[in-house]
Amino acid sequence: AAAASVDARGTAAAATPPPSTCSHRAAVRNQAVVTLITNNEGYPAGALAIAASLEVLESRLRRIAMVTDEVTQHIRELLASASWEVRVVPTIRCHQVLGPQITPDRYDLGEEYQRKKAKWIPTCTKLHAWNMTELTKVIFLDADTLVIKPIDALVDHPSAFSAAPDTFPADQFNSGVMVITPSAARFDELAAWNDDHGTAEGGDQGLLNEFFSEWFYNAWDADDAGRLPYIMNVAAAHHNQFKVLAQMQARDEPSILHFVGGESKPWHYMILKFQGMEDKIPEGARRLFATWDALYWLAKSNALCANGGVGGADRDRYAQMLAAV
Ligand code: GLC
Ligand code: MN
Repeated sequence: AAAASVDARGTAAAATPPPSTCSHRAAVRNQAVVTLITNNEGYPAGALAIAASLEVLESRLRRIAMVTDEVTQHIRELLASASWEVRVVPTIRCHQVLGPQITPDRYDLGEEYQRKKAKWIPTCTKLHAWNMTELTKVIFLDADTLVIKPIDALVDHPSAFSAAPDTFPADQFNSGVMVITPSAARFDELAAWNDDHGTAEGGDQGLLNEFFSEWFYNAWDADDAGRLPYIMNVAAAHHNQFKVLAQMQARDEPSILHFVGGESKPWHYMILKFQGMEDKIPEGARRLFATWDALYWLAKSNALCANGGVGGADRDRYAQMLAAV
């Protein structure tokens, strides 16, 4: 155990504090779940809930949270206390370009437009996931996802890159869940693509869909860009309805839910709850939110790393909550 904990603080941890405080985790060393935090509001809470869900589901993969300069020391320590290895990365700003048809005489490209676009700028920092070449596979998860069934087996996906379809438009992939084989060469190509070509959508998702433009036409296991099943990235708002359909058709239910959409983040629901306005939480999202909330507090109360982590009856209880989402 001593050797494992030395290893856990070794090459992987960034030169900057804090070290991972989860010494009980005898994790697989060369594969990781990776997320990205670029600010101090909302998304860190999401990362805590994800870590708790992975812990309850007994994921053996490392957990690495990329953080940018903006992320405070307090948040970094919170992430580390919740089993994330914190790695500071330089921000990669999405190079936002306008499509040729988008001209100020036809569209209002004023302040509101700029403000909406600005929030996507740091999302290209995700590209660093390709640069984690000490790993053989990365499962990248947006911090606004929640894992509800085991996902470690995704590391066996044969493609160097794979992602699940977006719901709109359905012939593109959603970049909130991606399985990636790190490659310095691919990282350089993506960074160069951002510089030279940019993204008209404004975020990483538009950039990646243009880079991997064959994705929709490819086989699920294509070398360069393959497909993940829909159940690996299901919009939270569609979960209930899809689950019924999956049961009717006797096929697999969702493994990863994604709180897409600016207003429907679980941390917004948390604020509503604190304000005693739970009735404002969309009815279809309440049970899912309650589970997210319980997992968030599990991580926040230091239960993931202290005293050997979550186990026994506690783990069973949370596992049942996840199963009942
Ligand atoms: C979508 C994706 C998200 C991505 C953003 C910007 O919201 O879900 O992962 O960062 O688009 O491209
Ligand atoms: Mn997202």
